[in-house]
Amino acid sequence: MQLRVVTTVLVVGVGTVLVLGAFVLGQIRDGLIETRVDRILAESARDAASATDLVGAATAATPGDLQQFMNNLYESLRTVGGESRGLVILQAPQNDSDVILTAGVSSPELVGVITPEMRTAVDEGVAQPWQYVAMPGTGEPGLVVGSTLPFRDAGDYELYFVYSLADEQQTLGLIQQVLIGGGLVLIGLVLIQTWTVTLQVVRPVRHAAKVASRLADGLLSERMTVRGADEMATLATTFNDMAESLQRQITRMEDLSRLQRRFVSDVSHELRTPLTTIRMASDVLHDRREEFAPEVARSAELLANQIDRFEVLLSDLLEMSRIDAGAAQLEFETVDLADVVEDEVEAIRHAASGLGVEVRLHVAAGRHTASMDRPRVGRIVRNLLSNAVEHAQGGAVDVAVASHQRAVAVVVRDYGLGLTPAQVDRVFDRFWRADAARARTMGGTGLGLSIAREDAQLHGGRLEAWGQPGEGASFRLTLPRTARGLGQQPVLPLAMRADEFTALDGHGAAR
Ligand SMILES: Nc1ncnc2c1ncn2[C@@H]1O[C@H](COP(=O)(O)OP(=O)(O)O)[C@@H](O)[C@H]1O
Ligand SMILES: [Mg+2]
Repeated sequence: MQLRVVTTVLVVGVGTVLVLGAFVLGQIRDGLIETRVDRILAESARDAASATDLVGAATAATPGDLQQFMNNLYESLRTVGGESRGLVILQAPQNDSDVILTAGVSSPELVGVITPEMRTAVDEGVAQPWQYVAMPGTGEPGLVVGSTLPFRDAGDYELYFVYSLADEQQTLGLIQQVLIGGGLVLIGLVLIQTWTVTLQVVRPVRHAAKVASRLADGLLSERMTVRGADEMATLATTFNDMAESLQRQITRMEDLSRLQRRFVSDVSHELRTPLTTIRMASDVLHDRREEFAPEVARSAELLANQIDRFEVLLSDLLEMSRIDAGAAQLEFETVDLADVVEDEVEAIRHAASGLGVEVRLHVAAGRHTASMDRPRVGRIVRNLLSNAVEHAQGGAVDVAVASHQRAVAVVVRDYGLGLTPAQVDRVFDRFWRADAARARTMGGTGLGLSIAREDAQLHGGRLEAWGQPGEGASFRLTLPRTARGLGQQPVLPLAMRADEFTALDGHGAAR
């Protein structure tokens, strides 16, 4: 910003100085030359008049005398002039007298500056013709003033005064130099001033930007220093007020959410004791349902089922609040992910075949060990598997395990119902279900995937989802092998195709 302001000032300043300088110089030149020309014209008119008087009164018997008179006149006119000037006397073209009087009365180098137009003007009797010329040799500017010298005995002659304007030109050059120098100094001063002024404005703005970015980084108690009572101080005060209210809001939200978490955890804990009692009572009823009337027996069964779901929900809630409170303790051990996945696949196989779903496990060659909390990873995989089986609609479920140097991964893919991209975005939200009214065969609380993702993140890993309506859904869990993180390269594609699963078998160890 500072640079921009200074550049603008520079451009505007240079422009102004140039225009102003040219104008002032023009005015001075006009004034200077005008006075000089006036003076020259007055002087030459006076001298020409006195010369004409002398010539008019001249009486000479012989041409020699006349020539003598002319020489004297030339000398006197040359020395009389107050200003440095040259003199040219020429015989008028229409003068056909045989007395020629111009010998030695003209500086030959000056004759060249008298133009034909000048001579015509003089001959035609124009009062006091004058003209700007370039001086011979130097090329400096000059001025020629013409007049006539009518001799009684020798016909008409022309008299020219040649003045040099070199002095004026020199003065003008000097003035120009002074103007340029002055302009440069002026621009320099203005630039320095602009620089310091913008610095005064820019510095607090930079300070504000720094404080704002620290605030954004979560340092909520960061404030601007308020100095003086100008606009910057107002900005700082307003900024600080904003930060203050932001901090208050955030603190309030934090308190609120802490309270909420406490509430959920307390309620879940409190519910556990009565639930255990209900569970025992229900178990008694369930065990003796044969003795009841059919509808009572059916009720006893329903009660037992719903209490099962209630227990799952409660334990999910407790787990959630434990994770939220940051109280989740991970116990790491080095485990082969393929072993964990194989155990879970075996565990679900029975329930799956009840739904006509075949679960196929594909394990890439090599070992897929990583440091992990085995029960938690097992729970993630169990969640993915039960979801896949539940949504497979009787189709197959493919499970792949592979690894590279940085990470191990498992992909669970079904070819059933699928998910829209919008649903994929929400699938990890708490309590979210694509269709809450959907027939629930294995039952869930809508907390399964959010807990799974939290678990993955506790490991420094990632849980991602993909889905296409009608093509099924795919979930990929990636866990780091070391503390260096997951690396850039994915271990397995997220939307894995059936042939990609079978390709793994080709290299894979038999399992
Ligand atoms: N493989 C899948 N195919 C289609 N939808 C799925 C799949 N897995 C999960 N979902 C959707 O995500 C929702 C949330 O899953 P989850 O968190 O495990 O909760 P729950 O299984 O208890 O409903 C499910 O209700 C379902 O709508
Ligand atoms: Mg589930």
